[in-house]
Amino acid sequence: MKILVTGGTGYIGSHTCVELQQKGYEVIIVDNLSNSNIKVLDAIEKISGIKPAFENFDLADTQKTADFFKRNSDIDGIIHFAAFKAVGESVNLPLKYYYNNLFSLVNILQSMKDNGIDNLVFSSSCTVYGQPEKLPVSENAPIQKAESPYGNTKQISEEIIFDTIKSSNIKGIALRYFNPIGAHESAIIGELPLGVPNCLMPFITQTAIGIRQQLSVFGDDYNTPDGTAIRDYIHIVDLAKAHVIAVERMVNQKMKKTFEYFNLGTGNGYSVLEVIKSFEKVSGQKLNYQIVGRRAGDVEQVWADTNFANDELGWKAQKSLDEMTLSAWNWEKKLNEN
Ligand code: UD1
Repeated sequence: MKILVTGGTGYIGSHTCVELQQKGYEVIIVDNLSNSNIKVLDAIEKISGIKPAFENFDLADTQKTADFFKRNSDIDGIIHFAAFKAVGESVNLPLKYYYNNLFSLVNILQSMKDNGIDNLVFSSSCTVYGQPEKLPVSENAPIQKAESPYGNTKQISEEIIFDTIKSSNIKGIALRYFNPIGAHESAIIGELPLGVPNCLMPFITQTAIGIRQQLSVFGDDYNTPDGTAIRDYIHIVDLAKAHVIAVERMVNQKMKKTFEYFNLGTGNGYSVLEVIKSFEKVSGQKLNYQIVGRRAGDVEQVWADTNFANDELGWKAQKSLDEMTLSAWNWEKKLNEN
């Protein structure tokens, strides 16, 4: 089985390529390296023993995408990760986000139709739920108006996929991620943020290693037990494994509907201070942090109802918060060895 992984040199993509190859899938990556490094291919090879096929081009380029699919019409399924994902940047540069995230999806879907490729796994986000009224949040919770253009691209993408599926043989699974953190246990691949990280975990590890002076904790006046915001952090390898299961479900014709969507989280919510405490415990490092004001656009608390994913996919996240923070720390240390 040949699987195209778009954005395969990125954070979630690279971990998914490893899991796919370890399960015997042939992987071809398309990535324009706009937010990743070509060296990740060697890292994937180091772990899995196989260097995946790779092409460097922009999937928002209609002609290049059509040419690629003409040459690779034997692809059995696609996992589409390639997208911009910085929430704050998307507020300042909305067209960059709409152009990149939506054009690439439209081009891929058109090429799927043209070449008879029917299976698409789409990288979505819990951001589609906004601040849910009921917690934990299940797949039936109403979609709320997106807080950012980035979040809106995820909502619109799901709609584009849904409409396309209705009018074609294409089937789709949207995976709505909560907060992926951590790194592969080998510490050979992990998150590689360019510049100052937006996300909590890389900011914590970069502060501990001395790249950043201090972590700002955004708000301690939320209506939560310790006042800091709560998220459902999920280990990146648990998340990657769910993609392989989704692909298997599609190619083995196990889907119950032509478009399905699943929450990928652990079902546990942890506050920012709990993540910091876990990090301090596993690393033996005291973290330099200070409480500052809330970050615009942040929701107070969100964690997943994972029952549907557990029952239907037969998948359950395995790793604890301590395992997540330790793997993130081991990765940061390895990155800074040289
Ligand atoms: C956000 C998006 C999510 C997206 C993800 C991609 C929203 C609501 N969520 O997740 O859809 O997929 O980014 O990267 O837009 N924090 C600090 N200090 C920091 C950084 C973060 O206190 O320096 C706090 C945040 O306020 C938040 C928590 O840590 O409470 C997690 O933040 P982050 O890692 O940025 O993820 P989200 O904002 O939840």
